[in-house]
Parts: sequence; C-alpha cells; structure tokens
Amino acid sequence: MDPLLALRPWEAPEVTSWGRLPMNAVDRRAGALKLDGDWRFQLLPAPDAPVSDVWSSSYVPGVWTMQDTDDLPQYTNVRMPYTEFPPQSPAANPTGVYERAVDVPADWAGRRIVLQVGAAESVLLVHVDGRPAGISKDSHLAAEFDLTGLVNPGERTVVRLTVVKWSDASHIEDQDQWWHGGVTRSVLLYATDPLHLADVTVRAGRYGALRVDCRVRDTGGALPDGWYVSGELDGQLLTQDTEFDRLNDEDDRVSDFLGEARLLTTVPGVRTWSAETPELYDLTVRLHRADGTVADASRHRVGFRDVEIVGRDLLVNGERVFVRGVNRHDFHPLTGRTVSYDDMRADLVLLKRFGFNAIRTAHYPNDPTLYDLADELGFYVVDEADIESHDHAHEIADDPRYLNAFVDRVSRMVLRDKNHPSVIIWSLGNESDYGANHDAAAGWVRRHDPTRPLQYEGAAKLGWADPDLASDIACPMYAPLEDCVAHALSGEQTKPLIQCEYSHAMGNSNGTLADHWAAIESTPGLQGGFIWEFWDHGILQRVNDGRPVGRGGAGLYEGGVAAPGHRWAYGGDFGETIHDGAFIADGVVFPDRTPKPVLYEHREIAAPVRLECFKHEGIVLGNHQHFRGLDWLTAEWELSLADGGTRTAPAELPDLRPGETAAVPLPFELPEDGGEAWLTLRVTTADDEPWAPRGTVVCLPQVRLRAAPPKRSVLAVRNRCVEVDADGLLIHPLLTCAPTLSLWRAPTDNDELGGMALRWRAWGLDTPVRKVVDVRQAAGHVTVRAEYAADAGVVRHTQVFTPVEDGIHVEESAELPDALADVARVGSVFETVAGLDLMEWYGQGPWESYPDRAFGAPVGHHRVPVDELFTPYLRPQESGGRHGVRHFTLSAPDATGLTVVLDEPRQVSVTRYRAEDLTAVGHHDELVPRAGCVVHLDAAHRGLGTASCGPDTSPSYLVAPGVHRWSWTLRTL
Ligand code: GAL
Ligand code: MG
Repeated sequence: MDPLLALRPWEAPEVTSWGRLPMNAVDRRAGALKLDGDWRFQLLPAPDAPVSDVWSSSYVPGVWTMQDTDDLPQYTNVRMPYTEFPPQSPAANPTGVYERAVDVPADWAGRRIVLQVGAAESVLLVHVDGRPAGISKDSHLAAEFDLTGLVNPGERTVVRLTVVKWSDASHIEDQDQWWHGGVTRSVLLYATDPLHLADVTVRAGRYGALRVDCRVRDTGGALPDGWYVSGELDGQLLTQDTEFDRLNDEDDRVSDFLGEARLLTTVPGVRTWSAETPELYDLTVRLHRADGTVADASRHRVGFRDVEIVGRDLLVNGERVFVRGVNRHDFHPLTGRTVSYDDMRADLVLLKRFGFNAIRTAHYPNDPTLYDLADELGFYVVDEADIESHDHAHEIADDPRYLNAFVDRVSRMVLRDKNHPSVIIWSLGNESDYGANHDAAAGWVRRHDPTRPLQYEGAAKLGWADPDLASDIACPMYAPLEDCVAHALSGEQTKPLIQCEYSHAMGNSNGTLADHWAAIESTPGLQGGFIWEFWDHGILQRVNDGRPVGRGGAGLYEGGVAAPGHRWAYGGDFGETIHDGAFIADGVVFPDRTPKPVLYEHREIAAPVRLECFKHEGIVLGNHQHFRGLDWLTAEWELSLADGGTRTAPAELPDLRPGETAAVPLPFELPEDGGEAWLTLRVTTADDEPWAPRGTVVCLPQVRLRAAPPKRSVLAVRNRCVEVDADGLLIHPLLTCAPTLSLWRAPTDNDELGGMALRWRAWGLDTPVRKVVDVRQAAGHVTVRAEYAADAGVVRHTQVFTPVEDGIHVEESAELPDALADVARVGSVFETVAGLDLMEWYGQGPWESYPDRAFGAPVGHHRVPVDELFTPYLRPQESGGRHGVRHFTLSAPDATGLTVVLDEPRQVSVTRYRAEDLTAVGHHDELVPRAGCVVHLDAAHRGLGTASCGPDTSPSYLVAPGVHRWSWTLRTL
C-alpha cells in the first residue's frame, strides 16, 4: 500500500506534515513555473478508495465543490456537518485526486527544485511519479516540498495532489463559512541554487532602524566557505552586523549547517509607515558565494513603524490610533474560496473608500497577496491563525494530540507574515475555548516575535484585564457598548479594548454603529473594533438545477442582484439538511461586492474631516486623522434649504495637523425666509490616491444652520370635501390602497433571530384585523375611528381628513396598549397607482437609513428612481427606508403625481413591496414587484440593532406604547 495512505494522516492530529519544508518569508513567485489551469481529476468516495482510469478535469486553484461534481457546498456555523467525534472523520469522505504532467526545465539541472501548493483543503498528500513526496495540513497556508531527488530536469514528471476533505484537521477548521474541498491557491514549481536563503526576517522601526536577519542553507548539507549576504534598501547598501557575527563566534553558535547573518542600516529622516501613510521601501537581500557571485536573492517591501502597548493604549508610531476594522474571509461567489489579485485589490480599495483602516483575517491566514496589498494601500491587520474548533472547542483546547497542530498553525503563520508592516497583531485563532494548546502557541509567538502584541478572544473573555492570559488585547466579540464603557471607566482596565467582532451586518442591520463610535472616541481605553463581517457569502447558483455557476459566471450579477434564473445561495440551498440558513449572509457588501447602505454610515463615522459645531461666528472644522494633514483633500460647501434648492460654494480647507481644529467663516448668507437650512462639506480626494481617483467622495460632514420654524396650523378650504367609503377608507384618484395603520415590518434578520418577530407574530401584528368604529363628517372634516385587534390588546386609530388647498391634510393618532411595548413601527401605509417611478425628497439620504443608522445620510434634496430605493438583501426583509424625511414627491415622467408634506422629519419608505410580500419569500429573486408604490409614513420606527448576533438596539430607538400622533398633507402635482 502507498505509505502516505497507510499512515491514514486524515485521522492523526499529531501528524501535521511529513516531508514539508519549514515556512519562510522568501517570496518565490517571480521566476516560478505556475501550475495553475486544468488538472486531471477524479473524486473518490474515500481517501483509501482505489483510483480509477476515469478522469475528468478540475481547475486549479479552485474547489471541486463549485466545479460540477456531486459534492456540493454546505454551510454550517458552529456544528460540524457530521457527528464523528474528533479526531474521527466520516467514512464517506470525498477525496479529490489531481494529476498533471510537468516538464521540468533542463536548465534546472543541479538546482534545488521545490513544489509549492498554495493551499489545499483539508489534507494534502503529494506524490511525484508515484513516489511519496509529502503531507501537509492547514487549509490556508502554503506547503513546500523539496523535489530535487524526485524529478529529473529536462524530463516530464507527473505530480499528483490527493486532497482529503474531512480529517482531524476539519475539527479545528470549523469556521462559520461554507465547507469546500480542493486546491484553493496557486501551485508553483521553482528552482534555487543549492545554496539558498531559507528565510529573511525584517525589522524596521519608526526611527529608521532596519535589521535584516538571514538564514542560509545548502541542500548539500554543510555550507560552503566564504558565503556572505548583502542588502540594498532603495539603492542604499546595508552594512554587515559584525558584532552579531563576533558574538555568534564567541558563543560557539556558528554551525557548518545553519548560516545566519544580520544586516543593518539606519535611514535618516525615514518616511514612516501607517495605514494613513503606507510608505514602503524596496529591500533586496542577496546571498553571495565566496567569489561574490549571487546564489540567491529575495525582495521585500519594508515599512518602518512601531507597534506597542503602553498602559491601556495600542500605539502605532507612538499614536493611539482608532481601529476601524472589518473581518474579512477569502471569499468569491463564483470560486468559493479562491480570490485573485484583482479581487483582493478591489476589496481593499472599497474598504479604503468607506473609511476602514483595519482588517482581521477571519479566521485564518488569508491569501498572501492580501498582505502585500494591505502594506501598499494602508491597513492594520490582525493576522489570525487557522484554528477554530467551535463545535468541540472544550475537548480540543487541552487535547495533547492537537498540541502540535496549534503550535504548527500559529508559528507557520508568523513565519510567513512577519515582515509585513500591516500586520500589527497576531491572533491565535477563533472560538476554540482556551487551553494549554493555546498557551503553547502563545509561548512560541511571544518568544519568536516580541515586536507585536498577541490576541485571542477565547482567552480575553476569561478576564479583560487579566495579565496572565494569552491575550494582550481585551478583544471581546459583540460586547454590549455599556459593558465596554463601564470597563474603561472602572479603573481596572489594563489592556486596550478593541472588539474582535462587533456590529453584526446580517441583512438590514448595524443599528447604533454611530453610538458605538461616539463612545469609542470619547472614552479613553476604547480603541475600536472589527465589524462582522465584510462579505455576504452568497454563492451564485442556477435556479433550475440548483448547481453553483462556478468560474464562468462573471457578468451574471450586477448591483448586488443575480441575473434572472440565478440567485445568491445560502445555507440549505444545495439540498443540505444540516445547515444554518442565511446566517452566512452577514456582510457589509453583497456577494458581488456591491456596498450595502451601512457602508455610507461607516464612511461618515470614519470621516477625516469633521464639522465640530456651528457658532455665530462660523464653523469649527477638525482634522480627525492620526498622521496626515488635509492637503490630500479638497472640498465644496453645499447649502440645502428646505424650501429652496441647493447652493454650492468652493471651500478652503485650513492647514491643520492631526487633532487640530480651526474656525472657518460661514460661506453663505442665509435667506431671510426662515426655513430649515443645512450646510454640508463635500470632501473629496484632491489627487489620485492609490485607492481612489481624484474627486472620490471621502465624507460629507454636515451641520444644521437653522431649524425648521414651527408649523402653521392647517386651513381647511370651503366647498370641498374629502371622500371616504363605507369603511372609512379614503378615496383618492392616485391611491389604490387607502392609508391605514401599520404596526408591522417584514422582520429583519435581527428581528427574527433576536426574537422580536416571534413576539410580534404572537401579538397578531402581522395579520391585523381592522374594524371601523365610527365615520363622521363635520365642517368639511371627516373623522374615522378604527380599531386594530391584536392578541395583546386593541389599538385605537383615528384619522381626521381635512380638505386643504390642492389636497388633503391627514391628522392621525394611534393608541397602543401597554402590552404592545416594542413594536416594529407605528404609521400609515398606502399604495399608489402605477407610473409614479421617481421619488424626490428633502430629508436624509440618498441611501437607505433607519433611526439607529442615520448618521451617514445627510439632510438634503435627493432624487432616486423608486426601483432603486429598495435594498436587495439576500433574504427579503424590511428595507428601503429613508430617515428624517420632511417632504417628498412621487412622480411620473410627465410630472404628474403626488406630494406628501410631513409634520416632522419621519421615517418613510417607498418600495414595490408590501411587508407581507417580503415576509412570504426566502430569496430576492422570488419577489414580484408591484406596479404601484407601497408607501409607509412612520410616526415611529424601531431601530435595527444587531440582535442576530449581539446587542439589540438601545432603548431610545424602541417604539413605546401609548399615544402616537402624526400628520401629513397629500397633494396632487
Ligand atoms: C462569531 C464568530 C464568527 C461568526 C459570527 C456570527 O461568533 O466568530 O465566525 O460566526 O459570530 O456571524
Ligand atoms: Mg464559530
């Protein structure tokens, strides 16, 4: 039997590798043979099943679960998809056999030849021409094998990669994501001189000191005499650290087999690296033979920066920086896991544009290119090891059979990524309880890389301030804001508090994000956190046969929506019986990276320029960055008048250092009419930035210059009356459904998973029964009293219709019994005739906003086609709302239509769907838009919160029982 199979490594947690080379930070991509493309492929039912003669093909890098096999993607959050206890795997264990022939270049004769498999999920066995070459585990790190003795340069060789899907390792790769199998990153074959750089470690501090440690090896065994290394930084030669050599000599450390050398320099006036100023220098390290010829070389991009914890502050270059982070998976709706350079760049560019400065690589080392891009574009990275044993966390954390795997995974990540300035914190993994295996891994990191802090949520949760635990950061997940503030004020805090996950972005969510940041920015000890998460992991699926579309699907989606006949699949859509549904769709972007409205909220929260306040003498403007001035920005003032239009004027940004403020004169004379007036500063990039062309909006800070005057009382016109039918329902030529009371919204994911929707249904709010009690006509007014029976009591609703100049004024009140504490909304709902396809309004916008997610939607005059008001969340739910609307029109192309003026800024939504339409279906593609508009005007609308995972909205955003009053005027255009 094959010796690799005989080992049964898929059920041996002690075996993390065999024949695998040590991890290192030497980039071998340049000059390598890329073995990507179609490989011969067959899927076996189990790893020890015989390989047949029947081959199909599979694309590498890629997962077979997305490439037309019968082993389809499956989504589970916590639970394992099978019941076998660790380290066991199920007997049905899909195993992919990949084979291809490779012509080994003849000029590689005499060289060391290495195969690099970028990532394979979850156990990789390598054979070359039928002979065993190695084994590796860890689905998110590369494995290298020395093939020198196995291949003949100038000849054709057959490389076989056997990838076993389920293994002991699956139990520590139980992250909340799709399960796949395959080779998910590129495969390379490269050659080096036998005398080679085995590793290079770069340390570069903010005062310009650079130290480069090189490890040198020779495959022949003992190193040849006279080798030496040299280095060059942006053309400047580094010096050999002779003191290092002398000490090594004296201590008798010098070995014939382990070559070590250190290079040094100091860069005067160094340009430091930070997320705001990602300054990089080019370093080339060369390994020379005694005669000076170059045996090997390695290139690195160096960022000079310091990270340290002082007291309870995390400092970058001595500054307490705010961490505006997001959790990011390697995800793609067509490939599942494989992400290209362009994809990763687009991810990071988008994050930059929306004010993020940090990424947690949840929950495993991401594709190596991501870190290059983070260095280049400027992100702080929490680099997380590939360890999550969620379902069996407690059993595994102390299981000595898994000790090796924990240390292996953490140490290999550190060895790979240690030279990236972007990586500022190491993370031991996620949701794996806390045990001796963690302490072992922490010990390894602390010793090996004392230059960075370490975090692990599983340890931190045992005590945010406890110095003995394996976490230098208090990094809770979804901690209530009050608890964070209380901890910071307690006097007990010893560590920076940076939430590793907060503000769960499932569906229509992220309520109270701005409140979080108001607290973070005003409470010493709080420094930010990482939103959960970047992606909605919807897989593009054909509806007719239920299969993933795969690599060929580019162009089959746009603007967050799948093309007709397709949809974004979530858990359960591939026929799995064990799954966790739409919990996989919890990101700030749609599966095609279209931003969700929360991103505009975040952009404003992160604004580098703030309008602090408005005083009579002018406006105070502040620079809210840590390192940059304002010279990279340009701006324009916009004055939005409730009763007029918008005026603009050029703005001069003052020369402010980080943290400084200055008063600037008011750019406009306010008109005498006394109406509400708002001033917005439209801040854009002054030049092309690597992540944004010139003119890209950076933020839209705003101040109110004048409040709305008190409303005048409504004057009824004589000789006109309002018509209602026998049920007291308004008759109006533009309305197909008269205004009635609405107490219900299509539950958001937060409403469902937080238990609110259950309560609302139990109260009967989804199917209210309206009963007219009384219809009275008097002095031109019509008063309609109705009752809505809910199981928790009766809601009394009154509407008074008054004819006014070209329209109807409606005064409403609703009285909610005390038992109806915390309903979704109280307001009016009506429907219009077809054809009113444009909405124009004065209020917050233009994007979707809700009471607890309205910080980033400036007040102004907005116009959006009705079809574009709705946000296509994967699982249909309440969406499309606009907060703080003062008045709006709905019009047809011929300018006919209606206008509504509200008594106060109100939550309004205009969509093509009734709440019941949205509630009835599970996917966006099942919705059938109505021809007219469904209009909601809310006296009160509940906040969104984040209760699908974490805290609900705060009490101030709840809808209270008691009497609600609102009024509005409907006119025909
Ligand atoms: C966290 C976990 C994430 C994800 C999230 C909910 O507990 O670390 O992986 O499951 O909750 O979406
Ligand atoms: Mg988990």
